[in-house]
Amino acid sequence: MVDQVLVTGATGKSGKRVVRQLRERGHRVRAAARSGEQVFDWLDRSTWEAALAGVRAVYVVQVDGTKLVRPFVELAADLGVRRVVLASGRGIDDPDYATDSGGVLDGLVDSENAVRESGLEWTITRPGWFAQNFSEGFFADAVSTGELRLPAGDGAASFVDAEDIAAVVTAALTEDGHDRQVYELSGPAAVTVEEAVATISEHARRNVRYVPLSPSEYVAELVSQGVTPQDAQAFADVVEPLRNGTDAYLSDGVQRALNRPPRTFAEFAAATVWA
Ligand SMILES: NC(=O)c1ccc[n+]([C@@H]2O[C@H](COP(=O)([O-])OP(=O)(O)OC[C@H]3O[C@@H](n4cnc5c(N)ncnc54)[C@H](OP(=O)(O)O)[C@@H]3O)[C@@H](O)[C@H]2O)c1
Repeated sequence: MVDQVLVTGATGKSGKRVVRQLRERGHRVRAAARSGEQVFDWLDRSTWEAALAGVRAVYVVQVDGTKLVRPFVELAADLGVRRVVLASGRGIDDPDYATDSGGVLDGLVDSENAVRESGLEWTITRPGWFAQNFSEGFFADAVSTGELRLPAGDGAASFVDAEDIAAVVTAALTEDGHDRQVYELSGPAAVTVEEAVATISEHARRNVRYVPLSPSEYVAELVSQGVTPQDAQAFADVVEPLRNGTDAYLSDGVQRALNRPPRTFAEFAAATVWA
C-alpha cells in the first residue's frame, strides 16, 4: 500500500473523487487546493514543499495554460516522491484537435514530457470530455436553467464519467502495473449534446433543451453578457471538438486500467443529483 498520497485539484471534478475513492480503500490522503485541508497554490511555490513532504505518490491536476508541472515534479523527486499520475487530456498531440487559444494543449504537452523525464514512476491519464461538465462544470448553470445554448451543432463526444477517471487514477496511484502507461479515457459510446440533454431530462425529471448556435452567435451572446471577446472566443474554441466530432471516438483506457468497461452516459445521469 502507498503510504501518503497527495491529490492536487482536490476540490475539482476528478480530484475530489480521487480523494474519496482513496479514502474508501484506506489510504492516507493529503487533499490539496487553494483552501481547505492542505493549502496549495500552483502560483505560490512557497506552498509546494509542505504539500509534497513525506508523500509517496501524487496526482497532478495542473492549472490550464501554465508550465509549472516540470519544476513541481523535479521538487517531488528531490523530496523522495516515487510515483506521479498526471491529469492530461485527449487530443493534446493532435494539431487538428482544437484551436489552442488558451495555451491549454501546449501546457499539457509540456507536463507530459516533464513526468516522462522525471525519473519517477509515471502514469498519464488523457480523459476526453467529462460527463460532469453537465452537472458540475462548464454547462452546469445552463442545464439548471433548462436551456443549453452552445455552438456544438449535432456533433457528439464519448463523454467519460469522472468516477471512472478517478478509479483509474486511484488504481495508478496505489497499485502496481500502471507504470509508463498512457490511459486515454472515454465513455462506451459517442453521445450528441441533444441526446445528452434528453437523457438528463429523463433522470432530472424536468425538461432541458439544447439550442444550437453558430460559433459567432455564441461569441456575440457571451460578449453581450459581459465576457471579454478573448475569453468568449476561448470558450468557443473549447467547444470546437464537440462540434466537429473529434472527441467522438472511443478509447480503451478504462478497460485496460480497470479490466471493466466504462460507465454509460445514462448511468452517469442516473447517479447524479440534478439541481
Ligand atoms: N473538464 C473536462 O471535460 C476535461 C477534459 C479533458 C481534460 N481535462 C483536464 O483535466 C484537468 C482537471 O480538470 P477538472 O475538471 O477535474 O478540474 P476542475 O473541476 O476545474 O478543478 C480544478 C481544481 O484545480 C484547483 N485549482 C485551481 N487553481 C489552482 C491553483 N492556482 N493552485 C492550486 N489548485 C488550483 C481547484 O481548486 P480550488 O479552486 O479550490 O483551489 C480545483 O480543485 C484539467 O487540467 C483539465 O484541462 C478536463
